[in-house]
Amino acid sequence: MALVTTTEMFKKAYNGGYAVGAFNVNNMEIVQAITEACREEKAPVILQVSKGARAYANHTYLVKLVEAAAIECPEIPIALHLDHGDSFETCKSCIDGGFTSVMIDASSKPFAENIEITRKVVEYAHDHGVVVEAELGALAGVEDEVSVEADRAHYTRPEEVEEFVAKTGCDSLAIAIGTSHGAYKFKPGTNPQLRFDILEEVVKKLPGFPIVLHGSSSVPQEYVEMVNTYGGKMPGAIGVPEEQLRHAAQLAVCKINIDSDLRLAMTGTIRKFFAEHPDKFDPREYLKPARANIKELVRHKLVDVLGCAGKA
Ligand code: G3H
Ligand code: 13P
Ligand code: ZN
Repeated sequence: MALVTTTEMFKKAYNGGYAVGAFNVNNMEIVQAITEACREEKAPVILQVSKGARAYANHTYLVKLVEAAAIECPEIPIALHLDHGDSFETCKSCIDGGFTSVMIDASSKPFAENIEITRKVVEYAHDHGVVVEAELGALAGVEDEVSVEADRAHYTRPEEVEEFVAKTGCDSLAIAIGTSHGAYKFKPGTNPQLRFDILEEVVKKLPGFPIVLHGSSSVPQEYVEMVNTYGGKMPGAIGVPEEQLRHAAQLAVCKINIDSDLRLAMTGTIRKFFAEHPDKFDPREYLKPARANIKELVRHKLVDVLGCAGKA
């Protein structure tokens, strides 16, 4: 199946009470792990590429890897999405270069400026058959070398969402309800709680409109321990409780972004492999178990968190 936009995926997810997983890809093994899990579980999927991923792996390599996955997994719909597009130019380059969906993240700009930039991207994207995710509110955490301190993060204001969507024409909206980027989301010993009251207010203002959650890794303690046991140092890495994401997926949240969890699985597995096999040096030997563990982690997300298994 050719790459698709998220329009149909989101319609089905909204009505079906589940969310589609959006996983970040940077290399072949990660693309394979995610799409093999999705193919086996018959799940739709969004493969997303950040500015950092494009700088690391090169736009063309990533597009071709994702197109290869679409050929290998013809049974499932796959969307190729730009994660956190920072300008019209970056979005245009992805729209012109084979992406089916882009995010313009002007959430750090004043409201009127966010509307202006987003509307410009929407006009260009829609003219080219591409859909647009926009963002209102600011998540805490680190993304692409930009760190948003907890005190500068703020929740999405429900009273702004209607005007924003009407004026920009965006196709989905990322909101801030307490998720956060990276592996260090919450203080150990605290009880993380997403603001479902804000989500409900947003849904009242935008009935039927697809909502997106960023920063939704749960930071599996099994992999934090693996990293720490085999020479790493990641104290106090805590994520979003999976039950809360499951609940969000049953509401209007149609896309849930997960990246850090996959990174942890990869790094933990490779650290363990090297500790147990100090004589090995063939990258295929350590990337193989890393890919297998990412695949099982993605399977778990599809089945137990997102609820999108069997929905392709
Ligand atoms: O939210 C950002 C994603 O986790 C991508 O991270 O900018 O390091 O590629 P990156
Ligand atoms: P995590 O860091 O929680 O995996 O979030 C990823 C993300 O939001 C990508 O845009
Ligand atoms: Zn994000």
